[in-house]
Amino acid sequence: MNMDQSVEVLNKIIRSRRSIFPKSYTGEEIPREAIELIVANANYAPTHKLTQPWRFRIFRKKGLELLAGEMERLYKVHTAPGKFKQSKLDSTRNKILSASCVIVISMKTHPDKLPEWEELASVSCAVQNMWLTASALHVGAYWSTPGTIAHLAEFLKLKPEEKCVGLFYMGFHKEPPREAKRKPIAKKTTWIEG
Ligand SMILES: Cc1cc2nc3c(=O)[nH]c(=O)nc-3n(C[C@H](O)[C@H](O)[C@H](O)COP(=O)(O)O)c2cc1C
Repeated sequence: MNMDQSVEVLNKIIRSRRSIFPKSYTGEEIPREAIELIVANANYAPTHKLTQPWRFRIFRKKGLELLAGEMERLYKVHTAPGKFKQSKLDSTRNKILSASCVIVISMKTHPDKLPEWEELASVSCAVQNMWLTASALHVGAYWSTPGTIAHLAEFLKLKPEEKCVGLFYMGFHKEPPREAKRKPIAKKTTWIEG
Protein backbone atom coordinates (compact mmCIF):
# COMPACT_ATOMS: atom_id res chain seq x y z
CA MET A 1 0.00 0.00 0.00
CA ASN A 2 1.29 3.42 -0.94
CA MET A 3 0.70 5.68 2.06
CA ASP A 4 1.53 9.29 1.43
CA GLN A 5 2.51 11.68 4.19
CA SER A 6 -0.96 13.09 4.67
CA VAL A 7 -2.33 9.65 5.61
CA GLU A 8 0.41 9.25 8.19
CA VAL A 9 -0.45 12.65 9.67
CA LEU A 10 -4.15 11.78 9.64
CA ASN A 11 -3.54 8.42 11.35
CA LYS A 12 -1.51 10.11 14.05
CA ILE A 13 -4.13 12.78 14.74
CA ILE A 14 -7.04 10.31 14.77
CA ARG A 15 -5.29 7.75 16.95
CA SER A 16 -3.81 10.19 19.46
CA ARG A 17 -7.03 12.17 20.05
CA ARG A 18 -8.23 11.54 23.61
CA SER A 19 -10.85 12.88 25.96
CA ILE A 20 -9.00 15.37 28.15
CA PHE A 21 -11.00 16.44 31.17
CA PRO A 22 -11.13 19.86 32.92
CA LYS A 23 -9.13 18.66 35.94
CA SER A 24 -6.12 18.47 33.60
CA TYR A 25 -6.49 21.95 32.09
CA THR A 26 -3.72 24.46 32.85
CA GLY A 27 -5.84 27.63 32.78
CA GLU A 28 -3.91 29.08 29.84
CA GLU A 29 -6.30 30.90 27.51
CA ILE A 30 -6.94 29.39 24.08
CA PRO A 31 -6.56 32.21 21.52
CA ARG A 32 -9.77 33.16 19.75
CA GLU A 33 -8.15 32.35 16.36
CA ALA A 34 -7.60 28.74 17.47
CA ILE A 35 -11.27 28.41 18.44
CA GLU A 36 -12.26 29.96 15.11
CA LEU A 37 -10.21 27.32 13.31
CA ILE A 38 -11.77 24.54 15.41
CA VAL A 39 -15.33 25.60 14.56
CA ALA A 40 -14.41 26.37 10.93
CA ASN A 41 -13.38 22.73 10.50
CA ALA A 42 -16.64 21.57 12.09
CA ASN A 43 -18.36 23.27 9.19
CA TYR A 44 -16.87 20.75 6.72
CA ALA A 45 -18.77 17.79 8.20
CA PRO A 46 -20.87 15.74 5.80
CA THR A 47 -24.55 16.68 5.81
CA HIS A 48 -27.46 14.94 4.09
CA LYS A 49 -29.50 17.39 1.98
CA LEU A 50 -27.00 20.04 3.07
CA THR A 51 -29.08 20.88 6.14
CA GLN A 52 -25.85 21.72 8.07
CA PRO A 53 -27.56 21.05 11.42
CA TRP A 54 -24.64 21.91 13.78
CA ARG A 55 -25.00 25.04 15.92
CA PHE A 56 -22.42 26.27 18.41
CA ARG A 57 -22.60 28.74 21.27
CA ILE A 58 -19.10 29.57 22.37
CA PHE A 59 -18.61 30.47 26.04
CA ARG A 60 -15.30 31.93 27.13
CA LYS A 61 -13.92 34.61 29.46
CA LYS A 62 -16.81 35.98 31.59
CA GLY A 63 -19.29 33.97 29.49
CA LEU A 64 -18.10 30.89 31.40
CA GLU A 65 -19.49 32.37 34.64
CA LEU A 66 -22.92 32.66 33.03
CA LEU A 67 -22.86 29.05 31.85
CA ALA A 68 -21.56 27.78 35.20
CA GLY A 69 -24.31 29.68 37.04
CA GLU A 70 -27.01 28.18 34.83
CA MET A 71 -25.65 24.62 35.06
CA GLU A 72 -25.54 24.95 38.86
CA ARG A 73 -29.11 26.27 38.91
CA LEU A 74 -30.31 23.40 36.70
CA TYR A 75 -28.58 20.82 38.88
CA LYS A 76 -30.31 22.25 41.97
CA VAL A 77 -33.74 22.44 40.29
CA HIS A 78 -33.68 19.03 38.59
CA THR A 79 -32.01 16.84 41.22
CA ALA A 80 -34.28 14.95 43.60
CA PRO A 81 -33.59 16.00 47.24
CA GLY A 82 -32.33 12.51 48.15
CA LYS A 83 -29.84 12.50 45.28
CA PHE A 84 -28.48 16.03 45.73
CA LYS A 85 -24.75 16.19 46.47
CA GLN A 86 -22.92 19.41 47.30
CA SER A 87 -19.73 17.92 45.79
CA LYS A 88 -21.51 17.37 42.46
CA LEU A 89 -22.80 20.97 42.52
CA ASP A 90 -19.29 22.27 43.22
CA SER A 91 -17.74 20.12 40.49
CA THR A 92 -20.39 21.27 37.97
CA ARG A 93 -19.18 24.84 38.53
CA ASN A 94 -15.47 24.09 38.83
CA LYS A 95 -15.38 22.02 35.63
CA ILE A 96 -16.76 24.90 33.59
CA LEU A 97 -14.50 27.49 35.21
CA SER A 98 -11.43 25.25 34.70
CA ALA A 99 -12.03 25.30 30.95
CA SER A 100 -10.71 28.07 28.71
CA CYS A 101 -13.73 27.63 26.47
CA VAL A 102 -16.93 25.57 26.47
CA ILE A 103 -18.79 25.17 23.20
CA VAL A 104 -22.43 24.27 23.70
CA ILE A 105 -23.39 21.96 20.85
CA SER A 106 -26.88 21.92 19.46
CA MET A 107 -28.56 20.48 16.43
CA LYS A 108 -31.16 22.12 14.25
CA THR A 109 -33.64 19.50 13.13
CA HIS A 110 -35.56 19.64 9.84
CA PRO A 111 -38.52 17.31 10.46
CA ASP A 112 -39.91 17.96 6.97
CA LYS A 113 -36.63 16.90 5.32
CA LEU A 114 -34.77 14.32 7.38
CA PRO A 115 -35.12 11.92 10.31
CA GLU A 116 -33.53 13.31 13.45
CA TRP A 117 -30.90 10.59 13.63
CA GLU A 118 -29.39 11.81 10.37
CA GLU A 119 -29.01 15.29 11.80
CA LEU A 120 -27.42 13.88 14.95
CA ALA A 121 -25.04 11.81 12.83
CA SER A 122 -24.02 14.95 10.96
CA VAL A 123 -23.54 16.97 14.18
CA SER A 124 -21.41 14.12 15.54
CA CYS A 125 -19.19 14.29 12.45
CA ALA A 126 -18.85 18.04 13.06
CA VAL A 127 -17.86 17.41 16.68
CA GLN A 128 -15.25 14.88 15.59
CA ASN A 129 -13.80 17.50 13.20
CA MET A 130 -13.57 19.94 16.12
CA TRP A 131 -12.05 17.33 18.39
CA LEU A 132 -9.37 16.31 15.88
CA THR A 133 -8.53 19.95 15.14
CA ALA A 134 -8.29 20.73 18.86
CA SER A 135 -6.06 17.70 19.35
CA ALA A 136 -3.76 18.79 16.49
CA LEU A 137 -3.48 22.21 18.19
CA HIS A 138 -2.59 20.49 21.53
CA VAL A 139 -5.87 21.67 22.98
CA GLY A 140 -7.48 19.09 25.27
CA ALA A 141 -11.18 18.54 24.74
CA TYR A 142 -14.09 16.32 25.67
CA TRP A 143 -17.78 15.97 24.87
CA SER A 144 -19.93 16.04 27.99
CA THR A 145 -23.60 15.05 28.11
CA PRO A 146 -25.05 15.62 31.61
CA GLY A 147 -28.83 15.15 31.97
CA THR A 148 -29.27 18.87 32.64
CA ILE A 149 -28.53 19.75 28.98
CA ALA A 150 -32.16 18.79 28.26
CA HIS A 151 -33.19 21.90 30.23
CA LEU A 152 -30.86 24.47 28.65
CA ALA A 153 -33.29 25.61 25.94
CA GLU A 154 -34.40 28.81 27.64
CA PHE A 155 -30.92 29.92 28.71
CA LEU A 156 -29.55 29.24 25.21
CA LYS A 157 -32.60 30.76 23.52
CA LEU A 158 -32.90 27.62 21.38
CA LYS A 159 -35.38 27.75 18.52
CA PRO A 160 -38.24 25.19 18.83
CA GLU A 161 -36.58 22.90 16.26
CA GLU A 162 -33.17 23.10 18.01
CA LYS A 163 -31.88 20.57 20.58
CA CYS A 164 -28.84 20.79 22.83
CA VAL A 165 -26.68 17.64 22.52
CA GLY A 166 -23.78 18.42 24.79
CA LEU A 167 -20.98 20.62 26.04
CA PHE A 168 -17.56 20.57 24.40
CA TYR A 169 -14.95 21.48 27.01
CA MET A 170 -11.56 22.77 25.89
CA GLY A 171 -8.31 23.73 27.58
CA PHE A 172 -4.57 23.48 27.17
CA HIS A 173 -3.12 20.66 29.26
CA LYS A 174 0.02 18.73 30.11
CA GLU A 175 -1.38 15.18 30.05
CA PRO A 176 1.05 12.59 28.72
CA PRO A 177 -0.24 10.73 25.64
CA ARG A 178 -2.30 7.64 26.51
CA GLU A 179 -3.34 4.69 24.39
CA ALA A 180 -6.96 4.41 23.28
CA LYS A 181 -8.94 1.62 24.97
CA ARG A 182 -10.55 -0.23 22.10
CA LYS A 183 -11.30 -3.87 21.30
CA PRO A 184 -9.76 -4.90 17.98
CA ILE A 185 -11.56 -3.72 14.85
CA ALA A 186 -11.59 -7.34 13.63
CA LYS A 187 -14.21 -8.09 16.32
CA LYS A 188 -16.49 -5.42 14.85
CA THR A 189 -15.98 -6.08 11.17
CA THR A 190 -17.48 -8.59 8.78
CA TRP A 191 -16.03 -9.00 5.29
CA ILE A 192 -18.19 -10.31 2.48
CA GLU A 193 -16.11 -10.96 -0.58
CA GLY A 194 -18.13 -13.32 -2.65
C1 LIG B 1 -21.74 11.50 22.42
C2 LIG B 1 -20.70 11.42 23.49
C3 LIG B 1 -21.01 11.80 24.78
C4 LIG B 1 -20.06 11.74 25.82
N1 LIG B 1 -20.43 12.13 27.07
C5 LIG B 1 -19.53 12.02 28.08
C6 LIG B 1 -19.88 12.40 29.41
O1 LIG B 1 -20.99 12.88 29.66
N2 LIG B 1 -18.96 12.23 30.38
C7 LIG B 1 -17.71 11.71 30.11
O2 LIG B 1 -16.91 11.58 31.04
N3 LIG B 1 -17.34 11.38 28.86
C8 LIG B 1 -18.21 11.53 27.83
N4 LIG B 1 -17.83 11.20 26.56
C9 LIG B 1 -16.44 10.86 26.30
C10 LIG B 1 -16.21 9.34 26.36
O3 LIG B 1 -16.20 8.96 27.73
C11 LIG B 1 -14.85 9.03 25.70
O4 LIG B 1 -14.91 9.39 24.33
C12 LIG B 1 -14.51 7.55 25.81
O5 LIG B 1 -14.21 7.22 27.15
C13 LIG B 1 -13.31 7.15 24.97
O6 LIG B 1 -12.17 7.89 25.31
P1 LIG B 1 -11.37 8.78 24.25
O7 LIG B 1 -12.30 9.89 23.79
O8 LIG B 1 -10.16 9.33 24.99
O9 LIG B 1 -10.95 7.91 23.10
C14 LIG B 1 -18.75 11.27 25.54
C15 LIG B 1 -18.43 10.87 24.22
C16 LIG B 1 -19.39 10.95 23.20
C17 LIG B 1 -19.01 10.52 21.81
